[in-house]
Amino acid sequence: MKKRAIPRHIGIIMDGNGRWAEMRGLPRFEGHKRGVQRVKEIVEVSSNIGVEVLSLYAFSIENWMRPVDEVSVIIGLLEKSLKGEFLNFMKEGVRFKVIGNRDKLPENIKSIIETTEHVTENNKGLILQCAISYGGRDEIIRAIRKAINQDLSPEDITEDSISRLLDTAGIPDPDLIIRTSGEQRLSNFLLWQSAYSEFYFTDTLWPDFTKEELLEAIHEYQMRDRRFGKVAIQKGLNIGVGSAF
Ligand code: IPE
Ligand code: IPE
Ligand code: MG
Repeated sequence: MKKRAIPRHIGIIMDGNGRWAEMRGLPRFEGHKRGVQRVKEIVEVSSNIGVEVLSLYAFSIENWMRPVDEVSVIIGLLEKSLKGEFLNFMKEGVRFKVIGNRDKLPENIKSIIETTEHVTENNKGLILQCAISYGGRDEIIRAIRKAINQDLSPEDITEDSISRLLDTAGIPDPDLIIRTSGEQRLSNFLLWQSAYSEFYFTDTLWPDFTKEELLEAIHEYQMRDRRFGKVAIQKGLNIGVGSAF
């Protein structure tokens, strides 16, 4: 694949763990375990092909409303895999970052997240941005509160200043958002940032998602014309003809 055509930032809504397990007569947590195992390969490939940022939707703010047993399994798995991957992040140069509402997280995972972010902050490889306890609307509300606390005036409210107040400050918007499991919705993922993202939906359940399918999604992305509201000729594409304007 040509390096220049690789999306700088890929977001993945990793959905379908529960159905993967239910289809096999297994408890839902088995699906979450398998789902966590898939992450490693996808991080590795993304890093190898030159993706700059990989954002993984691991746990939404609405997911707190699931049965408490399932919530504690998911949070436990996140904690365990963070501890387990720490040395690999250092070896691979991965910079780890969490977006989402930390106030709702238990203390132990919060401190593991903070330590991992701190220790990996000067790494120069892939930025792995994990959305945990994340909701796009919640993120926007927290940004507005920050703006008010910083006494920003109405004129100070711009696309740039809002972007800087979001959890994703300093990170380019996602070029490509992939959702597994056949659902075709954002479920509150990166609402502000996805304004001009390309979407790739697949029926594959997250525990079955492979690097081949990631490459397939990127290939499809490379065929798209991203016009950003302009006409093709302004983007240097070879399809625009005369215009009435
Ligand atoms: C995605 O899988 C993981 C989380 C939301 C934490 P689901 O648990 O939503 O799986 P389905 O959608 O029920 O199959
Ligand atoms: C979205 O999946 C959140 C994650 C993948 C972490 P959900 O399974 O929670 O979304 P809905 O409920 O189907 O919209
Ligand atoms: Mg789901």
